[in-house]
Parts: sequence; C-alpha cells; structure tokens
Amino acid sequence: MPSGILGGNLDGKSILLIISGGIAAYKSLDLIRRLKERGAAVRCVLTAGGAQFVTPLSVAALSEEAVFQDLFSLKDESEMGHIRLSREADLLVIAPASADLMAKMASGQADDLASTILLATDKPVLFAPAMNTRMWEHPATQRNVRTLLDDGLASIGPGQGDLACGEVGSGRMSEPLEIVAAIETLLGETPVAGDLPLMGRRAIVTSGPTYEAIDPVRYLANRSSGKQGHAIAAALAQLGAEVVLVAGPNNLPDPGGVQVRAIESAAQMLAACEAALPADIAVCAAAVADWRVAGEAGQKMKKDGSGRPPALALVENPDILKTLSQLNGGRPGLVVGFAAETEKVVGHAQGKRTRKGCDWIVANDVGAGTNVMGGDDNTVHLITAQGVEDWPTMSKDAVAAALARRIADHFEHFGSA
Ligand code: CTP
Repeated sequence: MPSGILGGNLDGKSILLIISGGIAAYKSLDLIRRLKERGAAVRCVLTAGGAQFVTPLSVAALSEEAVFQDLFSLKDESEMGHIRLSREADLLVIAPASADLMAKMASGQADDLASTILLATDKPVLFAPAMNTRMWEHPATQRNVRTLLDDGLASIGPGQGDLACGEVGSGRMSEPLEIVAAIETLLGETPVAGDLPLMGRRAIVTSGPTYEAIDPVRYLANRSSGKQGHAIAAALAQLGAEVVLVAGPNNLPDPGGVQVRAIESAAQMLAACEAALPADIAVCAAAVADWRVAGEAGQKMKKDGSGRPPALALVENPDILKTLSQLNGGRPGLVVGFAAETEKVVGHAQGKRTRKGCDWIVANDVGAGTNVMGGDDNTVHLITAQGVEDWPTMSKDAVAAALARRIADHFEHFGSA
C-alpha cells in the first residue's frame, strides 16, 4: 500500500482528549501513548466519571501534561481557561464517549468542564462511543448520535464483540490504533479552504442489501449492514463531494452532509442511481441481490394443504455497477465496484473488473470466519488498471477515508478522465 494513504504522522499537532466515564477508559491510556509516539501533543480532560476508571496520575504521566478536571478550579482556570484548552487544540477527541456525555452534547448542556469545552469549541470533534449494547441501541442514544453527526461531529465505532458487562453486541470502543487512523484522516482532511479536493464533484454511492419481495410480507435479502458504503459516502462528503447515497434497508444513522435515497429492491436502486446522474464518481458498495422473484404475489402466499412448498422462480436483477460502467453517454468519470469473494479473491475480482467494465474494484474476502459482512473491519485489495494494492486490515471507516483520498488523488492527477 503506498505510504500516505492513511495520512501523515502527527508532528506538531495538538489534541485535546476528553476521557469520559466507562471501562473503555483504560484503552485511552494506550491512545495517549500512540498519539505521543506519532509526535502529537496530548492534553487531557478527565470527567468525574472518567476519573472513576483511570487516575489523573496515570493520564498526567502518559501525556506529560497537567490533567484538567474541574470547571470551577481556580488553579486550572487561572493557568489554562476552558476556552484556551480548545483554542490551543487542532482537534478534540472524546474517547470513550459515554451515553451521558453524548446526551449532554446533543442538547447543548454545559455543566462540567468537558461539556463546557465542547459547547464552546469551534474545532473539529471526533467521538468514540463506548457503552453497554442496550444503552447504545436505545432510541435516545441513537437520536443523540444522529444529532451530533448532523452538527458536523465525526464519530468512530463502536465495534461489536464481548463487552465488559458480559454481554455481546455493539458498544465496544474502537481500538486505539483505529482511533489514531481516524485522527490522522481528520487532521489531514480538516475542511479548511483549499483542502476540499472533491469540491464541485458529484458522487453516487450504493450501500446495504436489497430486499426482493416474494409477497407483501416476505422477501429475499442478504447480511450486508451497509457500514462500508455509508462510511464511503461520509468520507467523500468530508472531502467536499456532493454525495447521493442510495441505500438499501439498514440500521445506520444517515451520514451527515449526504443526500440519502432509501430504496428496497435492486430495480429501485438502479432507478435511484440513474435519477442521480450525472456524476463524476460512482462507488457501488451495495450487496445487490442477484435475483428477484418472478411475479411477486399480490397477496400473502398461503399453504395449499398439499405439504409441498411453492416453487419460487427467480429472474436476474439488473447489474447496477455494470449499467453505470457501460453507459454510452454520461458515464461517471470514475466507477468503483466492490467484489465480495470467498476464494481466489484477487483473481475473481480482476475478472469482475473486466466483465463489468468498471475502473477500480475493491476486493474483499467475505469467507467464513472473516466477519466482514456486518463487522467493523475490512481487509481489502484495490485493483486498478495499474495493478493490485494490498491494504492492511483497517476499520471500515479507515478503508473509506483511504479510498476517498485515493479518489481525490485520481482526479487531481487525471482530471475528469
Ligand atoms: N452489483 C451491482 N448490481 C448487481 C450485482 C452486483 O451493482 N445486481 C455490484 C456490487 O455493488 C459490487 C459488484 O457489483 O460493486 C460485485 O458484486 P458481487 O456480489 O461481488 O458480484 P456479483 O456481480 O454478484 O457476481 P458473483 O455473484 O458472480 O460473485
């Protein structure tokens, strides 16, 4: 993988890390170390909850800076006011971001040092949620996350897996190195004038599964979560592109700054993509159902008492990637497909690139045990006319950021071709 895709190192960057309450706070100690290794200056704010999990002494020792805890501390305010803490940072990172702190931010409360800084800042903010899975899935938390994303904050995670509370599910804070990658990307992409390389470009991104109706209550579908496609739409928008995200059914918040077209079937996905043309960029990350049922039943299909199941005749769905790649007029300048493979990943993907006529293919291994479908990480190979790049395993957010950067570089070097 060429160097620089994940952003440079963090020399000279100043990060204000807010550690709120949660068992994941122990990972933030490692995050401090990783950021410092990359040359960043790290100043930390510890909430009252955070201080229940890690001590100010550990945070101070690792960051080599005083730790700030109290909004009304005479000493802290005289030496370093809460406004100055934000002013002197390039980026604010909240890790872990507790449900409580996110709720405070979403409603604009400012009753402690962390929430006051967050209300007073004009700097980019990245938050890494961590909590029990039911707290994460609660409609209130999901509403707050959507509000924060709409307000322009960036998020990373949470991931899935075993949680400290003994449950399994979504809510685990992203790993320190994933957060570092997101920080590098954000700092490389802070939307200051002149650093929006895709400004003026239009992009269409497909994401998620499609549902193919059998009758009014049943459908054929697949396990795609839409995480990768949604992350790509968000990453392209962060680089200034005007993005239409054509999304099959999913449980994800709409990415901020992106126009979302919600569809169900492959036919609707194709129609929505065609309606979104013209575009400079098309990224087809959706797991489109290859077949639909011929002649969807108008009423719920009933058992006929014979004990024999009904025969479902299938017909092939339109291939959206192929259609966009082979448009006679108005073909997007760069068409990127995905290839989900369980064996001979690169070989099959190269064949797919030629067959469908797209410019690039992002190939990923979705074989048993990889946990790509629905998971948070991805190991991909980027296949272009020039060859194959093997990218390291990264979070889907980091893959999206790297791909968006790559797309921006392509337009910088080759213009609209
Ligand atoms: N794709 C599409 N429309 C379809 C099927 C696939 O746009 N009807 C796109 C996907 O979004 C992806 C690429 O084609 O970008 C490859 O999808 P994949 O499922 O890996 O391949 P298939 O074309 O379904 O081929 P096969 O099932 O033979 O692997």
